[in-house]
Amino acid sequence: MSQSITADKPDTNKSRADEGGERMALLIVDGEEYELPIRKGTMGPEVIDITKLYRRSRRFTYDPGYTSTASCESKITFIDGANGKLLYRGYPIDELATHGNYLETCYLLLFGELPNKAQYEEFANRITYHTMLHEQMNRFYTGFRRDAHPMAIMVGIVGALSAFYHDSTDIYDPEQRMVASYRMIAKMPTIAAMAYKYSIGQPFIYPRNDLDYAANFLHMCFAVPCEPYEVDPVLARAMDRIFVLHADHEQNASTSTVRLAGSSGANPFACIAAGIACLWGPSHGGANEAALNMLEEIGTVDRIPEYIARAKDKSDPFRLMGFGHRVYKNYDPRAKVMRQTAHEVLDRLGVKEEPLLQVAMELERIALEDEYFIEKRLYPNIDFYSGITLRALGFPPEMFTVLFALARTVGWIAQWREMIEDPNQKIGRPRQLYTGPVERDYVPMDER
Ligand code: SDX
Repeated sequence: MSQSITADKPDTNKSRADEGGERMALLIVDGEEYELPIRKGTMGPEVIDITKLYRRSRRFTYDPGYTSTASCESKITFIDGANGKLLYRGYPIDELATHGNYLETCYLLLFGELPNKAQYEEFANRITYHTMLHEQMNRFYTGFRRDAHPMAIMVGIVGALSAFYHDSTDIYDPEQRMVASYRMIAKMPTIAAMAYKYSIGQPFIYPRNDLDYAANFLHMCFAVPCEPYEVDPVLARAMDRIFVLHADHEQNASTSTVRLAGSSGANPFACIAAGIACLWGPSHGGANEAALNMLEEIGTVDRIPEYIARAKDKSDPFRLMGFGHRVYKNYDPRAKVMRQTAHEVLDRLGVKEEPLLQVAMELERIALEDEYFIEKRLYPNIDFYSGITLRALGFPPEMFTVLFALARTVGWIAQWREMIEDPNQKIGRPRQLYTGPVERDYVPMDER
């Protein structure tokens, strides 16, 4: 019995069911037939399982950028790009960001369920008592120039954690995996705040166990030893919500980097350092810094048309930073919450008339009405409004991706743990389509 694969439109490859009733896709190459199992998840597109394709056909599939490739099976995060939905373990991001908090979201991403009060308090306590860094790590900071980009510092310091916490680097010991997870989530705010303090020549501020996660981070960034510093609860809430929005996002570039590094058995600190390095790119986590720099370069509303024209010009490499997404072909649900948070923070700080916000609002309005952006389904993504908000909170643009890395650490850790615990996972080793020179003999230098 053959049937077309259930899809919006008939698929060229017919499918059929094998004896066991499993639906199969049928691939025919040069008259050879290859039946490939079709697997269905709980949500989202089906997959065609090609794990045995090379062994049977001696052919690879080809998919640079993995636009049509599922690298793994996961139960953590789901994105419905067409409808602008993002679910963490089934819960919509806007509900978690509005009603929950970051540590509750960390528990959910790590363990799969929202914690009850006792579970939450035990988890929050474990995190609180891992926030300090080994005192000797302070010396790593003084080895950097003061003007070093804080993402460079983050990559270095996080990678170096495995030199201090080798008692939680045995990835095959579940207890050590758990301790490493707590340590990463707990220490990232301390490491990030120290990178910021070092860049402005101020002394490091130790974490405080009487403050919650986001308030503690703001305190470590903006307090000075000379006087008390009260964290504004509205700003702390906004910071916490920004962390929730950035916590995880399926198999994006940096998460895939963490999974690939982890698939070789590398320790968790080294894997997270690899993820930080990947996130730094302006097409990925570096877009919030790039988006703010772009808004500053545009400067005034009357210059927006010039930049819209440049974004459309194929000969111009300029792109509107903070617009477009590989998966969202609708409004990024995180951007909606980020936009509301931007207004709340600027209101609270009395900078509602911030010119950059005016430029951002007008740029968004124009882009959403412009044929090019509508046709290419380029909507504002989370980075479009996060830069304005973070700058209003007092962070310089070079710290924006550091905050993204801080928040995404729990997502990287959750995905890394899932990969380690997946019996089907093996070392990641993609193949290639080789188009280089065919075999040839060595030519001695004096004969070339
Ligand atoms: C993040 O993967 C994730 O989930 C990432 C992330 C996460 O939480 O981990 O969501 C975080 O990285 C958000 C994205 C932040 N990046 C930016 O804002 C940088 C600007 N955006 C682009 O570089 C781009 O949109 C990407 C990289 C985000 C997506 O690129 P794709 O899916 O590979 O799409 P594409 O580059 O092929 O673009 C499709 C078309 C192209 O035109 P054509 O070649 O089809 O004619 O749209 C155009 C592009 O030229 N286009 C843009 C544009 N983005 C895409 N044109 C102008 N401005 C833009 N921003």
